[in-house]
Order: sequence, then structure tokens, then C-alpha cells
Amino acid sequence: MAVINGLLGLAAAGSFWFCALVLAAQPQRAYGSNRGSFGQNKGLVAPPEAGICGSSVTVYGYKCQELEVTTQDGYILSLQRIPEGRVGGGENKRPPVLIQHGVLVDGMTWFLNSPEQNLPMILADNGFDVWIANTRGTRFSRRHTSLDPSQPAFWDWSWDELVTFDLPAIFDFVCGQTGQKIDYVGHSLGTLIALASFSEGKLGNQLKSAALLSPIAYLSHMTTALGVVAAKSFVGEITTLVGLSEFYPKGEPVQNFLNALCAYPGVDCYDLLSALTGINCCLNSSTVDLFLMNEPQSTSTKNMVHLSQTVRDGVVAKYNYGRPDYNVMHYGEARPPVYNLSNIPRDLPLFVSYGGRDALSDVRDVMLLLDDFKFHDVDKLSVQFIKDYAHADFIMGVNAKDIVYNQVVSFFKGQH
Ligand SMILES: *[C@@H]1O[C@H](CO)[C@@H](O)[C@H](O)[C@H]1NC(C)=O
Ligand SMILES: *[C@@H]1O[C@H](CO)[C@@H](O)[C@H](O)[C@H]1NC(C)=O
Repeated sequence: MAVINGLLGLAAAGSFWFCALVLAAQPQRAYGSNRGSFGQNKGLVAPPEAGICGSSVTVYGYKCQELEVTTQDGYILSLQRIPEGRVGGGENKRPPVLIQHGVLVDGMTWFLNSPEQNLPMILADNGFDVWIANTRGTRFSRRHTSLDPSQPAFWDWSWDELVTFDLPAIFDFVCGQTGQKIDYVGHSLGTLIALASFSEGKLGNQLKSAALLSPIAYLSHMTTALGVVAAKSFVGEITTLVGLSEFYPKGEPVQNFLNALCAYPGVDCYDLLSALTGINCCLNSSTVDLFLMNEPQSTSTKNMVHLSQTVRDGVVAKYNYGRPDYNVMHYGEARPPVYNLSNIPRDLPLFVSYGGRDALSDVRDVMLLLDDFKFHDVDKLSVQFIKDYAHADFIMGVNAKDIVYNQVVSFFKGQH
């Protein structure tokens, strides 16, 4: 395992400076008013008419295409393509990179910082052909060939379906358009679905390499008090509260649910972002404001229940229908089948970056994940540990370029 040691020092020094800066700006104030609630900004949140390209990309002088992909189970997903950097791309064939966000956010979450600081544009400026995924249910991916988001059937999926349908559809599409294998970047749930998919060999020869930021697979050491209480409640109460349909974080049932959780002893939701993701070292308060205006996004309640099962059961397995006979009906077995992460091809180039303060991707859980890679080819696995980083620093950290994204770029360039 090639550990990038030099970075640790760099990360610490960089974070110190930025933490001082961000602290001085008192970021707490910026979202302190969101006590126990994401809904405070309700009035401000209209889906940008211009879409992600129009609102966040072309305004900075980059080309950007809005595309759509239909999954085998009928979801119409929005996809953005930034084919080249700001200064153009010349005649060279640029390698495609697919960027997959996590749960409760969408593709726009990558664009909240300046073009010099955000991952898609840094990749585009480094000669990559960049594709941004938007998971089913998020604001630009709420169409279906026959269903409507107002119908519970539209929300009858968990991250199993992202593995079975979303990723393969997007990979097929990007490969079809570019005729090349794909470098993948995932954050959070975007790492879990990728790992599950790789373990089943689903993407086969369409995948070239993968960078996993804030990886989640095992979740049993999750330290966020809110997360733990939520996970326990999700498995039981939430389905009766919200029903197995849309999990809309800004809607009243979810707000009530959150308020109830925040009243639990030991759960401090004063700063909800920290309560969920850990103490992020390096966020810009203006960016956090933008984040709260644009996110969180909907997902399915079934997906949240499935994630909660992952927290509770400590295994990476398919959705548990809660009763042996139901599981038999779906899987032919009383227990949901496990995704065996040791089946991931040992020669798949992997870059894993995780943070010391990440409450969702806890260091002990990352160790469990890395243990699944103990037979991975030594020269195909790079691991980066960033002591001061928490979950959101990987997407919005003001110093993420220097600490993480430049490493991602070098990692991908090393595969070509
Ligand atoms: C924080 O965001 C504001 C507004 O986008 C920007 O002007 C400022 O330069 C950012 N600060 C850092 C350290 O990136
Ligand atoms: C997982 O896969 C590895 C490697 O293919 C195999 O040795 C191991 O027995 C599998 N574990 C389970 C629980 O199936």
C-alpha cells in the first residue's frame, strides 16, 4: 500500500492556516440560524432554471452540455459534461472522468467553490473530459418514463438500485459517447455504490480507475450522534412517520423527525452540518451558505433505511426486507446477500482519501474497508489520510485543491 506520507504534514499546515481564517469568519453564524433544521432557507431554494451548466459552469467560461440517461428501470437522470478546460482542449482525445456525489446532495455540490477550487473544473483544466452524475430523486433527476415523484412507486429503491441501474446506465452512456474507459471519482455514498458495483464486476471493462473520497462501506463506527440516533430510528420509526416514499429533507415530516432526533440527550444540532458530517476544518462560510441554499436534496426513505441497516448490521449487504419470508421472496434467501468487497479486481487502480475528523466515514470503518484490500496489488492502491478533514471538506474545502484534488489528478494521469 503506497501511503502518501508527505501529504500529512502539508495537510496539517494548510489546515491550520485555513482554520484560522474560517474561524475568524465565524462560519457558525452563517448557518447557526439553521438550528435543527435545514428548512430555514426554504424560500430561497428554487431549482435553477438554467440547470447546472447554466448556473454554475458556462458563467465561468467553460463549455458544458446538459444530457440525460434513462436507466433500465425507467429513471431519466440528468448528466452534465464539461468536455474541456477553460482554454480549450486542442485536438487531443481527453480521458473521461465521471464524478458521483453522495446522498442528500446533487451534482451542483461540486461547484459551490470558485472554479479554481472545485474538482470538476480542476479536472477539466487538467485535460480531462468531465461528466457529472445526478442521482435519481435529486432535483434534476426527478423524471421517469412512467412514474411521477408524487407516487410512492417512484421512491421504491435503495442504493442497491443505484448499483444495479444508475451506475451501469451512466457508464454505458459515457463509454458510448467517448469510446474510452472511465476514471471514476466518488464521494461518500458515491464510493459505496461504486465499491458494491466493482465487487459484482458490473462495470467490467468500462472502468479504468477509481478515486474514493471520504469512503463509506462499513458504517458501524459512525460517531455523529445525530447519525447514530437517526440510524436507529430509521430502521423502526421513520417508515411509519414518513412512509416508504420520498425523503424530502425540507418537508415537514422530515423536519419533525429531525427535530425529534435533535431533542435526544447528547445530540446537539445547533450546527447541523457538523452534527451530521463532523467538524469540517476548512469550509468557507459563503460556500456553506450556498450549500444550504442548494442542498439537501431528496432521496428515497428506503435508501435511508438501507443505509441505517448498514450502520446497524456492520455488513455491506443488500436491502433487508425485515422478514425472512420477504427476503426469500426477493433474494431466494432468508438474509440479504452480502456484497463481497474482496472480489474487487486486485489490479484495479484505486486512490482512497479519508479524513481524521470525518464522523460519517470513521477512521475505524475505513480501516475495515482497507482490510478488504489487503491482497490488492501493492502498486495499484494509494491511500491518503488527512488528519483535519471531515466529510464536507472533501467537496467544499477551500484547500481541497492543494490537498486532495491535485492528488486525484496525478493519480488519474498516472493511469494514462
Ligand atoms: C470564500 O467565498 C467567497 C465568496 O465566494 C470568496 O470571495 C472568498 O475568496 C472565499 N475564500 C476563500 C478562502 O476561498
Ligand atoms: C469473498 O471473496 C473472497 C475472494 O474472492 C473469498 O476468498 C471469500 O471467501 C469471500 N467471502 C465470502 C463471505 O463469501
